[in-house]
Amino acid sequence: MAWTSKSPSSTWPMPTWLPHSRRSRGARRGTSTPTWTHIGTPQARWCARPRAPRCGSPRASWSCTTALLPVDMYGHPADMIEMRRIADRHVLALVEDACIALGAEIDGRRLGRHADVTCFSFSPGKHLGAMGAAGACTTQNAALADRIHKLASDGQARGRHYDPKPRIGQHHETEGHNQRMDEMQAAILRAKLPHLDETLAVRRAHADRYTERLVGLADLPGERTGFRHAWRNYVIDVPPLVA
Ligand SMILES: Cc1ncc(COP(=O)(O)O)c(C=O)c1O
Repeated sequence: MAWTSKSPSSTWPMPTWLPHSRRSRGARRGTSTPTWTHIGTPQARWCARPRAPRCGSPRASWSCTTALLPVDMYGHPADMIEMRRIADRHVLALVEDACIALGAEIDGRRLGRHADVTCFSFSPGKHLGAMGAAGACTTQNAALADRIHKLASDGQARGRHYDPKPRIGQHHETEGHNQRMDEMQAAILRAKLPHLDETLAVRRAHADRYTERLVGLADLPGERTGFRHAWRNYVIDVPPLVA
């Protein structure tokens, strides 16, 4: 979270509905502490306005928070307009987990430009899926793009990964991870990308059909006005069965 002015040892709210492995992954390497925020009602399962954390005092405040990490749950966009407002007002970084919401929209604009960084997954089970691990981040901040590239590429900068000076060779500017997306995955995704809109339309038609058939039997998922769901998951709540 080095692009924010706040201390890295602070909190960042995430939704409680996020599976534990996803929640812990982000917090593992830093000194930040995730704080969980509740979202939605059974019908409204999107990430809405997060509550400010307590920061060790009785009064809730954003002062100890570094970043907001909304998740576009099940493919429905989080309320990114409200998140942006809170982030701007309290000088927080805004990182959107749109891993399962590729193609979703807010006010007619596809996800990818509402946050400082938006993350997408193309792992095989996603609706634009590669054959192995794959993903992408979008940002409009060139310095951030450079940093993300370095982190995914063992700390090597694009075009500066080799230093010709004697005895230097491979040049790593920082620590990083070996998480480049390989060319085979890129080729598969490139072939599938033109079919994304068709995939989204089929998912929407299936969701409409589920709604038609299940209405009255369970709490069904909805779509907020002005938002367009990517329908990665159609999650229902059923009343407990009485024996
Ligand atoms: C909301 C969310 N974020 C992140 C991920 C992680 O994606 P990947 O499988 O590419 O690590 C997933 C995977 O299902 C997800 O559902």
